[in-house]
Amino acid sequence: MRRVNRLSDTPTEIPDELYDMCGQARRVVVLTGAGMSAESGVPTFRDPIDGLWENFEPEQLVSVEGWRTDPGTVWAWHLWFAALISKCSPNPGHRALGRWARTWQRREAGTVEVITQNIDDLHERAGLIPISHLHGSITTFLCSQCGAKAQSVLSYPKEPSAHIMPPRCPVCGGYIRPAVTWFGEELPRKDIDAAVEAAMGCDLMLVVGTSGTVHPAAGLPRLAAGRGVPIIEINPRDTALTHDMDIVWRESAAVALPALVDGVLGDHE
Ligand code: APR
Repeated sequence: MRRVNRLSDTPTEIPDELYDMCGQARRVVVLTGAGMSAESGVPTFRDPIDGLWENFEPEQLVSVEGWRTDPGTVWAWHLWFAALISKCSPNPGHRALGRWARTWQRREAGTVEVITQNIDDLHERAGLIPISHLHGSITTFLCSQCGAKAQSVLSYPKEPSAHIMPPRCPVCGGYIRPAVTWFGEELPRKDIDAAVEAAMGCDLMLVVGTSGTVHPAAGLPRLAAGRGVPIIEINPRDTALTHDMDIVWRESAAVALPALVDGVLGDHE
């Protein structure tokens, strides 16, 4: 059982211990989940009330089985989600991580790398390309049959329940699909390898905005913790990972990360 040092729910003062931990690190890895994009307006999957899985069965919408039985509903939902994401912008949390990485690179003070479970491109649009998109990306498309990259297609439906048959691949005639990892599929090899290498090589891990319910992503903090690496959770709620954490900060990503990065980069005087 690790020591869980729970910060007060709305800390006005962040303890120096947290700044010291981050300032002493040279390879910081940040594992992000849907909560990272919540303040950009992208709904999470499991939040009570407005979570996406409150209104849909994930097994129908983001699974190989769902695609096989009803590609039109699966395709229409992904288009709707892609349209929603295209209207959202990176929030101060995404931008803070990008600033941290760029400033440390300029100062040769260390590296900040992101492993994300999110299929949006908000980290990229904040100037920090994740080393691993564990569950793929909704902004790229490929043929479900021959794997040929497809043009980003998109005429967006207004409602998530629309039924639109996916376009056909010009090469082989197979259906075009989003390049996301569905339940029942293997994770992209290069992304899972990069994520495990980073969890085994980092000297600090931040876990931001994930319920910690989907593996193998949820196993990464334990890999780092098993090496004695400090792990910090930033999330307004307890999660399946909370008991593994060294520090738990009950704050949102867009509030906590800018405050933390200002402190680490010395802009908090
Ligand atoms: N800041 C930080 N965390 C937040 C915020 C916020 N503003 N708002 C919500 N959260 C937290 C919630 O408390 C919850 O713990 O984000 C987490 C969201 O959990 P999920 O909806 O389960 O999302 P995630 O953990 O990313 O799901 C993992 O499940 O369905 C699959 O492929 C999907 O990648 C996804 C995976």
